Amino acid sequence: MEKKLINGHLHVSYRRPKYSDQESQTAAKKYFEFMNQRRTVREFDSRNISLNVMENIIRTAGTAPSGAHKQPWTFCLISDPEMKKQIRIAAEEEEKISYTSRMPESWKDDLAPLGTDWEKPFLEIAPYLIVVFKQSYGMQDGEKIQHYYVNESVGIACGFLIAAIHQAGLVTVTHTPSPMNFLSDILQRPKHEKPFLLLPVGYPAKETYVPDIERKQLEEILIRY
Ligand SMILES: Cc1cc2nc3c(=O)[nH]c(=O)nc-3n(C[C@H](O)[C@H](O)[C@H](O)COP(=O)(O)O)c2cc1C
Repeated sequence: MEKKLINGHLHVSYRRPKYSDQESQTAAKKYFEFMNQRRTVREFDSRNISLNVMENIIRTAGTAPSGAHKQPWTFCLISDPEMKKQIRIAAEEEEKISYTSRMPESWKDDLAPLGTDWEKPFLEIAPYLIVVFKQSYGMQDGEKIQHYYVNESVGIACGFLIAAIHQAGLVTVTHTPSPMNFLSDILQRPKHEKPFLLLPVGYPAKETYVPDIERKQLEEILIRY
C-alpha cells in the first residue's frame, strides 16, 4: 500500500472500484431495497447464533466515522441467561413505572400503534443482547481524554450496527428503557461510559407481525437546492 507524509502525518493511498453512473444507480437502488426490508421486530426465536456472526456485526459498527477518530463507544455482548434475566427484570421495573406514571398520555398514544408495553420477554428470548455505551470521555493510564461529538458518533455506529444485523439475516429492536442506569451497574461499566441503546439480536419468531406503518416518501424528507 502506497504511503506518504502529508503535513508530517502518515497517509495511505485510498481507492474504490470505479463505478459507471449506471453501476452506481444499480448499487444505490439495490441497497435501498435491501434496507427498506428492515423492520423492528419484537418477537424472537431462541435459536442460537455463532459468536463469530456477532463479532463481525460489532466489527462493522466499529468502522463508523467518529469525531476526531476517538471511537467513543463500547459494545457489551451478552448471552449469559442469568445476566439477560437480570437485565429483563431491571428493564421491566423501569418500564412499568414509565408506562404507569412517567409517560404523558400523548406519548402513550403515539406508541399505541406499535403495540409496545412494559413487558420485555425479548430480553430473555433473544440469544444475544448488545448494550451500546457511549464514552463521554476516554481514559488512558488514569488520564482523561477529550471526546468530541459523542452522541453523533455513537448514533452513527448504531446505524451501522443495525444495518449489519439486517445483512446477517437477523433482527433487532432498538430498545431504550428509561432511565437506563441499571445497565451500568449490571455490566459494571466505568463512570465515563453511559448506556446508549439496548439491542436484542436474533432470528425473528417463526410467526411474527410488525406494525403496518408507512415510511415518509422521498418528497417529504428531501429538499433539493
Ligand atoms: C432511538 C430509538 C428508540 C427506540 N425505542 C424503542 C423502545 O424502547 N421499544 C420499542 O419497542 N421500539 C423502540 N424503537 C423502535 C421504533 O419504534 C421503530 O423503529 C419505529 O416504530 C419504526 O419501525 P421500523 O423500525 O420497523 O421501521 C426505538 C427506535 C429508536 C430509533
